[in-house]
Amino acid sequence: VCGIVGYIGDKQALPILIEGLKRLEYRGYDSAGVAVHNGHCINISKTKGRLTVLEQRIDPNQLQGTLGIGHTRWATHGEPSDINSHPHTNQSGEIAIVHNGIIENYMKLKDWLQKEGYVFVSETDTEVVAHLINYYYRGDLVEAVRNTLDKIEGSYALGVIAKDHPDCMVVARKDSPLVIGLGDGENYIASDIPAILKYTRRVYLLEYREIALIRRDAVEIIDQYGKKVQKEVFEVTWDVESAEKGGYQHFMIKEIHEEPKALRDTMASRIVDGKVNLSDLNVTREQLEKAGKIIIIACGTAYHAGVVGKYVIEKLARIPVDVEIASEFRYKDPLINEDNIVIIISQSGETADTLAAMRMCKKVGAKVIAITNVVGSTVSREADHVVYTWAGPEIAVASTKAYTTQLLCMYMMALDFADKMGRISADEYQRIIEEIRKLPELAQEILDDKEIIQRCADETFNASSIFYMGRGLDYAVAMEGSLKLKEISYIHSEAYAAGELKHGTIALIEEGTPVVALATQKGLFEKTLSNIKEVKARGAFVIAVAMEGDTEIEKEADRVIYIPRVYDILAPVLVVIPLQLYAYYVAVAKGCDVDKPRNLAKSVTVE
Ligand code: F6R
Repeated sequence: VCGIVGYIGDKQALPILIEGLKRLEYRGYDSAGVAVHNGHCINISKTKGRLTVLEQRIDPNQLQGTLGIGHTRWATHGEPSDINSHPHTNQSGEIAIVHNGIIENYMKLKDWLQKEGYVFVSETDTEVVAHLINYYYRGDLVEAVRNTLDKIEGSYALGVIAKDHPDCMVVARKDSPLVIGLGDGENYIASDIPAILKYTRRVYLLEYREIALIRRDAVEIIDQYGKKVQKEVFEVTWDVESAEKGGYQHFMIKEIHEEPKALRDTMASRIVDGKVNLSDLNVTREQLEKAGKIIIIACGTAYHAGVVGKYVIEKLARIPVDVEIASEFRYKDPLINEDNIVIIISQSGETADTLAAMRMCKKVGAKVIAITNVVGSTVSREADHVVYTWAGPEIAVASTKAYTTQLLCMYMMALDFADKMGRISADEYQRIIEEIRKLPELAQEILDDKEIIQRCADETFNASSIFYMGRGLDYAVAMEGSLKLKEISYIHSEAYAAGELKHGTIALIEEGTPVVALATQKGLFEKTLSNIKEVKARGAFVIAVAMEGDTEIEKEADRVIYIPRVYDILAPVLVVIPLQLYAYYVAVAKGCDVDKPRNLAKSVTVE
C-alpha cells in the first residue's frame, strides 16, 4: 500500500504535492518523494523516512514547476532507502513515475531489460516500469504506457511524467485505486480522495485497466484497447476526515473490514498450486528433527497469535512449541540452543522487548524466522528469514488485521512443518488448504451481518467486568478478545480456560455479569456447554460464539453469535472477528477514543 499524488495547472506543484502526501501518509510512511517538471527537465527529491524528513531536505528553488507527481511508500520489494523511494526514472531521468501496487513479473522483465542494456539502480519492482516506458517511447507517452502495461503482470496505479511533455501527465490503474480531481485549468491525481479534497470535490474514479491523459484543461480516458471512455463526474460529499477512513467512523472498524483482503493478500504469494510455499525459509526435515523445540516469542496481540501457533504446530506437526512473552523471555536465562527454531511475531517489527529477545536467540545461533507486517523494520532486517503479513498499514492502536494475518502465517508454517515431517496425510493437507482458501469469503460473511454483535454490545457496555472463556483454540482466541475489549473500552476483563473457572474465578460471577463463551471446537463443545451452564447458574449473561448449525447452544446462552462453518482448527481466524467488532461497538457506545486508547502507543519501542 502506497500513496500517490499529482498536479498539473498554473500553480506551483510542490506545496500541493506535499499537502496531498500528508493526507496519504496513512497508506504508507517509510519513504517519500516528489518529481517536478520545470518546463525543461524533471527534478526529483526523495528520501527514506517520513514526509517530514523529505520536507526538511527539499530545496523548493530546485523544484519549481507547475507539473509534478509525489509518492509516500510502504515498502514491498526492496527495503526503505533513498534509492528505493519513488519517483523512479529511466536511466537518463527523462521519464519519472510513481507506482502503487506490485509488479509480479518484474524479475523476468528486469532480466530482459538488463540484456537490452538497461542499468538498474534500485531493488524495486517499480523501476522496470520506468525503463519499459522508455523502451516503448517513440514520442507518444500514452502509447508507451499502454505497451508497457501489456507487458506487466500484477497490480498498479501509476503516475507518469516525461521531460518531452511539460503539458501533460499520464496515469493508469489496474487493481490499486486512483482518482482524478477536476479543477478549473488544473487537474489532480491521487490514490485516495482525501489528498485532493481541499482543492476539488469533482472527481473521476479511474477503473480497471483505464489510462488517462491529463492536461491542464482536459482529461482524456481510454480503456486497455485504446477506446475512448466517457466518464461521469463523481461529486464527493464526505468531509476530509471521514474520507481518509474510507467513510468509516474509525480506522479500527475500517481495518476490521479490510481483513478479508488482508487474508487474501497474505496467502497470495504463499499458497501456490495447492501447496504452502515457504521455501525461502530453508527449513529442512533434518532441522526440524534436530530442533527439539520451536520457540515463539512476541508481545500482546502478536503473543496471542503465537498461542494459536503453538496449538496448531503441535497438533499438525507434533513438534513441541514454547510460546513466550518477550519481556519475560529476555530476563529468564531461557533454555535455548543453536538447534532451536525461533519464530518472532511482531506487527511493527520494532517492539523493544521482542527485538531484545530476538537478539538473544541469534546470539546463541538459533535459526530466527520473523513474522512481521513492516518491510524494512528492524525485525525484518535482523531475522534470518521473514514471512510478511500483507495486511497494509495498521493505524488503529488496537491490532486487528495484523492478528488475523499472523494467524494465517502460523497455519501455513504448521502445515509446511507437518508436511516436511511426514506427519500429515495428503488428504488432510489438501482439506486444510482448501478451507484456508475460503477464509476471506467467510470473514466477509461475518462482516456483512453485524447486527447481533451490535446488539450484544448495546446490552453490555455498562458492565464493570466482562469475562471470556473457551477451551483449546477457543481459549487462545478468548485471550485476544479480552485484550481487545480492555484496551479500547477500559472495561476490566479476563480470559479463562473454561475448565479453570471453577478453580477460583467463578466467585466473581454475579447476577448480570457478561461472559463471552467461545464454543467452536468440535471435541470440546459439550464440555464448554457445561461451563456455560455453570456460569449461568451464578447469574451470568452469556454471549456465546459458535459455528452455524450448533443450535443446541441457544438453550443455554442468552445470545448466540454464529460464525460460518469451517474446519475447527481454523476457527480462530473467524472467531476473533466478532470479538473485535464486539470490543469496538462497546467502546463506541461508551464514547471512548477507539483509535487512540489512553496510555497506549502503536509501537512500543521502549522497554
Ligand atoms: C494490541 C496490540 C499490542 C501489540 C504489541 C506488540 O492491540 O496491538 O498488544 O500486539 O504491542 O506489537 P508488535 O506486534 O508491533 O510487536
